[in-house]
Order: sequence, then structure tokens, then C-alpha cells
Amino acid sequence: MTTKSNADELDLLDNKYTSENELALAVSKRRNFAIISHPDAGKTTLTEKLLLYGGAIQQAGAVKARGQQRKVTSDWMELEKQRGISITSTVLQFCYNDTTINLLDTPGHQDFSEDTYRTLAAADNAVMLEDAAKGLEPQTRKLFEVCRMRHIPIFTFINKMDRPGQEPISLLDEIESELGLLTWPVNWPIGSGDLFRGVIDRTTRVVTLFTKAERGKQSTEYKLNISDPELNKLVEKELLDIALEELELIDEAGSALDMKLVQSGELTPIFFGSAMTNFGVSPFLDSFLEMAQGPVARESNKGPINPLHPSFSGFVFKLQANMDPRHRDRVAFVRVCSGKFQKDMTVRHARTGKQIRLSRPQKIFGKDRDVVDDAFPGDVIGLNNPGMFSIGDTLYTGSHIEYEGIPCFSPEIFSWLRNPNPSAFKNFRKGINELREEGAVQVLYDTDQSKRDPILAAVGQLQLEVVQHRMENEYGVQTRLEPLGFQVARWVSGGWSELEDTGRLFNCKVVQDVWHRPVLLFKNDWNLNQLHEDHPNLLLSAVAPVVSGVDPISL
Ligand code: G4P
Repeated sequence: MTTKSNADELDLLDNKYTSENELALAVSKRRNFAIISHPDAGKTTLTEKLLLYGGAIQQAGAVKARGQQRKVTSDWMELEKQRGISITSTVLQFCYNDTTINLLDTPGHQDFSEDTYRTLAAADNAVMLEDAAKGLEPQTRKLFEVCRMRHIPIFTFINKMDRPGQEPISLLDEIESELGLLTWPVNWPIGSGDLFRGVIDRTTRVVTLFTKAERGKQSTEYKLNISDPELNKLVEKELLDIALEELELIDEAGSALDMKLVQSGELTPIFFGSAMTNFGVSPFLDSFLEMAQGPVARESNKGPINPLHPSFSGFVFKLQANMDPRHRDRVAFVRVCSGKFQKDMTVRHARTGKQIRLSRPQKIFGKDRDVVDDAFPGDVIGLNNPGMFSIGDTLYTGSHIEYEGIPCFSPEIFSWLRNPNPSAFKNFRKGINELREEGAVQVLYDTDQSKRDPILAAVGQLQLEVVQHRMENEYGVQTRLEPLGFQVARWVSGGWSELEDTGRLFNCKVVQDVWHRPVLLFKNDWNLNQLHEDHPNLLLSAVAPVVSGVDPISL
């Protein structure tokens, strides 16, 4: 017979197992990724197609005129533009088969800022999108470096195969030699441009034929076995022979697909396709979901935290003000790292030790916002931020943990921010300190105490404009930017003592970051290399070390 207390215990145990199972199931069915690419490579187009497969945007059979297609999805992009200059990247969540996919959207070029880097800190996988004609481009390289730092798996989609492009082999060579990344083509193209006939699956040797569809329409994907005699009628023999020869060469040179190398970000599976004509997108999505890693354990001060850990935890990777200009609201984006998040949950804010009840967590999909009832590792939730959250903050339940901070990335644009009106100094100071805290821009100071104006250090010009705009609109201060003419920043790994031991430095300016650490500014890479040659023992870092336990310099 079961006593009452026994029954209660069993209930508790049941609940425990149910919640453990629920968490394990949710984690196993979640994939999260960001697309890294250079403007114009086709990120918007690929995103549209992926969302279509996920049913996140409605379009029967995915066959509609391109104009209309654009309209459907550009709403959320348009909204971002309407937000004026505080352009943001958000997360798009959709389901495909039985997997929940979180696509962390990184903004395009004119919006390019540290936000993009930080978003990558919340991603478990990256899709590197290349234009087949252009190969690797500058922004892709930059973003790739961030992925490499975190060893996240990278999947490459070589786009625009329907247009004349570079030789597929040289595209692979470029990735291998310039990024130091091994490649493993999952499929191989037959011809390119006007002669693009389709792709051969490397493992099954099944050919998917490409038929050029009318602009804006989905191309049909017709599959045939490589030995099927019909193939010779549909594809020119020379093209097929070349593709097969190349494939053989690749097979001879390379070994089997090593998933360990994929997961450690050392080898990238490569897919050829054409997002615009929707060719190769669905097989890409299928393979990607098979190979991509699920939510991973994250480093904290208590060691790596497994996503299956029953207590909820997450970190803030992005702050966005004025998401809705009518309400001047601020949103903190939190990546869930462990446990189950539930609406109305009370969590602890690791930096301040405060308890917070999260009563209005949101899921933000473009312009739509839904209140989130629950979320799991790999998901992103938006929290109202009344100035409480900073980039890198940890939220948790259970015993205290703090996730590793998000490093500051090397800025490339430096400018004094002047306050021409001394009577506005109080607001100027408030604005600078708050915007810096929010992570809108990095702030450096001259080592000369008499020059107390802040030096804004940004990754993109837009960041500086955002600061000026917000200083005026939110703090009522008109400011003036005065460019410094430097392009490269390096942190001195050994701090001030190492710098003093090194002696006099030429062709660089020594400044300090808000954490009192020395930073060297250079006009160009040439000057930086010169310094390396003159002082080979001086260790410099392009990424600011993570800070703990120091008070920042406030203006
Ligand atoms: P982005 O977000 O990376 O900046 O690129 P986006 O998707 O906006 O694509 C840039 C241009 O490349 C668009 O042309 C788009 O249609 C085209 N494109 C994307 N994928 C493919 C592809 O697979 N094949 C070909 N041929 N073109 C592709 P656009 O002329 O700028 O815009 P639209 O007039 O087509 O809308």
C-alpha cells in the first residue's frame, strides 16, 4: 500500500523525471545558428527560404512572385530601418520537422557593429555564406575569426551557383589556405552559371538536377542516380565528366567526414546551391540539422555548465534600446544556457546579487512580440531592461554561477567625442557612462589627465552615429566627433609594467580603456607589424581580456 507521504514523494519524483525528460527532449530538439556573410552574398534570400521551410512565413508551396516574397519578409527588416539608426539584429525562431531552430540574425554592412560579434557569442553554429563569384570577402573573414575564437562548427553554403562563378576547387582552396579551415564538400556542382546543371551528393552519388525556374519561382529538384542512363540525356557529358573527375580527386585527397573536426570548428562541410532559385536549400537544411551541434555547455566560474543542468541560467548578449520608439523601451536579449525558463520565474542577477521576477519575457520575431511562457537552452528571450542589465550579465536560479564575459573586439574607428557646451557637462557625462555600460560603444581615455574627453572606439561608423544621435535624443546633448586617424587597437597583455619595461614606442598612441588597461592605437597594420619587429617580446592582443573585480573609469 502506498502511504500519503509516499505518494507525495512519488509525485515529486514523477515531476522530477517529467521535467528532466522535458528538458532533455527540448535540448535534443534545438539547434541555434547565425549566418556570417558579406553584404550581397544572399543572406536575406537564404533566410527567407529557411523561414519558408520552417513555415515561419506563410507562402503556399513557396511559389510566389519575388516582389511579393520580398514584401512578406522585408517587414521586419523595414521595421529595423524605421527604427532609424538603432538598427538591430534579432532572433528568428522556427520549427522544421520536429526541431526548433533559432536563427540569430546578424545585421548587414551599414549596420555592422559589435552587436554582430556579440550575437556570435550566443550562437552554437555558424553558416558561412559565400557568393560563388566573389569567394571570401572582408566581412566574412572578420566574422569567421570570431567563430574561430569560440571553435564553433561552421557550415559553408556557396551561393549563386546559377551565375558564373569561380572554380569550385579554388573556392575550397581559398577557405583552406586563407582561413586554415579544412573543407568537406557534401555535394559537388555540375557546371556553373548558364551551364549549372545541378549537384552530385558526395556520399550517395545521387544527382539533383537544377532546372532554371522563372525569376522568383522555385526551381524543381529532380533526383537521379549517377548510373541512371537518363542522366546522359539531361546533362552534357563533358560537364558530368568534369564534375565526376573533380569529385574523385577530392575523394582521393580527403578522408571520410570527421564529425569531431566539424564540431570543433576545424572542418567545414560545404554545400553548393542557389538561394534565389531555392536550389539546394532544403537538402542543406536537412544535412545541417543532422550535423549541427545542439546547445553546448558554457564556461562559467564553476566550470562548464551543461544545458541539462536542472537550474535555469543564461547570459545577456545584446541590449537594444528603443525597439519600439513609441515606448522608448529597452530590451536585453538573453541566451538560455541551462534548465527550463518559465514566465514569472524569479532569478538572481549575478553581478548585483539582486533577485528579479521575469514577468514579461518576450519572443521577438521581427515586429511581432509574444510573451514567452517557457524557453529552453539554445533559445533567446527578450527582457525589458530598465537599465539593470549589461552585456555579459548572468541570470540564474539555484547556486551562484557567472558565465565568462563577452570579450570586447578590436575597434577600428576612433574619435574624440567633444561636448561643445560646458553647461551640458552633467548630461554629457551621464550619457557617455550609460551608453558605455550598455555596450553601445567602447570608450577609451587619454593617459594625459588633462585630456578627459572620451575617445569613442567602434567597429563600424554607424556605432558612432548611434551614440551621437542617442546623446542628443536621450540626454539632450549635442556632441561633435573628431576623428583620431587610427585604425588598429591592441591591448598590452602584460599591462602597464610590461609597457614600461619595453621603453619608448614609435608610431603609436598609448591610451587606456575604462578598466585602466593600456591600449595601443596604430594608424595601420604596417605600423603594428613594425612594432612587433622592434619589440618581439611585447605581447599584444586584438581582443580585450575579460574584466573582473575592477571599477571602470567614469567620466
Ligand atoms: P544580403 O542579405 O546578403 O545582403 O543579400 P540579399 O539576399 O539581399 O541578396 C543580394 C542580391 O543577390 C539580391 O539581388 C538577390 O536576389 C541576389 N541573390 C541571392 N541569392 C542568389 C542566387 O542564388 N542567385 C542569384 N543569381 N542571385 C541571388 P538584388 O538584385 O540586389 O535584389 P532583387 O532585385 O533580386 O531583390
